[in-house]
Amino acid sequence: MSSALKIWHPFTNGALDPSPVLVRRAEGVYLHTADGRKIVDAISSWWVNLHGHANPRIAAAIAEQGKKLEHVIMAGFSHEAAEELAERLRRWVPRDLSYMFFSDDGSTAVEVALKVAVQYFQNLDRAEKTEIVALAHGYHGDTAGAMSVSDESPFTQPFESMRYAVHRVNSAYCYRCPVGLKRESCHIECVQQLERLLEERSEHIAAVIVEPLLQGAGGMIVHPVEFLQKVRSLCTEHDVLLIADEVLTGFGRTGKMFACDLANVSPDLMCVSKGITGGFMTMGVTLCTDRVESAFRSENRLHTFYHGHSYTGNALACAAANANLQIFEDEPVFDRIAAIARIHGERLAVLRTMHRVGEVRQVGTMGALELVTEDAGYLSALRPKLYGFFLDHGVLLRPLGNVVYVLPPYVIEPDELHRVYDVIDEAIETLL
Ligand SMILES: Cc1ncc(COP(=O)(O)O)c(C=O)c1O
Repeated sequence: MSSALKIWHPFTNGALDPSPVLVRRAEGVYLHTADGRKIVDAISSWWVNLHGHANPRIAAAIAEQGKKLEHVIMAGFSHEAAEELAERLRRWVPRDLSYMFFSDDGSTAVEVALKVAVQYFQNLDRAEKTEIVALAHGYHGDTAGAMSVSDESPFTQPFESMRYAVHRVNSAYCYRCPVGLKRESCHIECVQQLERLLEERSEHIAAVIVEPLLQGAGGMIVHPVEFLQKVRSLCTEHDVLLIADEVLTGFGRTGKMFACDLANVSPDLMCVSKGITGGFMTMGVTLCTDRVESAFRSENRLHTFYHGHSYTGNALACAAANANLQIFEDEPVFDRIAAIARIHGERLAVLRTMHRVGEVRQVGTMGALELVTEDAGYLSALRPKLYGFFLDHGVLLRPLGNVVYVLPPYVIEPDELHRVYDVIDEAIETLL
């Protein structure tokens, strides 16, 4: 008898990191481990879970769908669960978006958006518009194109040769303002770099990609809404497509269904994934305007978007997404979100006064604190110590270097969220 294969885990160094924890089952915000522990999933399992683990409504919808149709090729075919999802999403997404293109996850949703943006201008006989602009501290996924638009980091370092060139411009990282100003008195001068770039080169630029209002993996950086609004108006002025990567921010994370709603901005392309299925199934969707799609509807076959993944539009994932959106319609999801936001606000206000806390940041259900340390950044030595401390105290939190953030499923109860913050307080007192 041969022994089993060993699982190579993501973002995990087999020599340095602790062995993975075996989870036997999960319910609500809790992971139940094989060794009898009960761990609060305070990061929604990489930001995907919305209504709790093993949510019975989503689980039932997947089971029902599986008895009818598990999957069908989406080229030349469609199915009822996908059509239903198209109708349901229409009710929630920014007004100008009228087409949706399926893919598999956040990274592929981003790849689709970038490729659509470039081919859009080709199809319009403006083949010189190929360049992409992306933000400092941005993160858009781990595939080669998504890595190219992501900012340099330990994640991208070995792959410089595989990343295509993009224009990198300032983000609105107010704590470390790129133009040396203070938010209280600034006029979003950080956006002027993008403004100058578009003035000089817009005839070569196809798209600007942003994580709207909240840059996640780059350090949970919260932008003023005015930044996104200015980026939108600059893109419109210079005939450049705006891609909003809502892979993290979508489905209520920022307090509204989409971060773009908070800024009252409608992008030309929008990427969603993570929360779309409530955390049950993998799915990516890239939405676009009628104007964008119409450039691909043509007598010329070469204007076709020749892109598609085998599991595109998977019926089980569509059923999960439909059940997820039904929960938004039937249950007080936005009250739960508001309750989380209130507790974040209360607890972060106290944390802000601790001298090792440089800044606290919050938008909707995301609460973060940036700790003061000499080795700030993803590889900060603090990170593994904090991670281990949290886990030892029954809480799953994965600090981004010296940035600790809490991004729980929406069903977390107030006392459970307070407990997460109590453990953070204790960690700061013990480890810093
Ligand atoms: C903003 C953003 N875009 C894209 C991605 C990539 O998504 P996935 O990991 O599903 O490929 C992520 C993942 O964290 C993300 O936060």
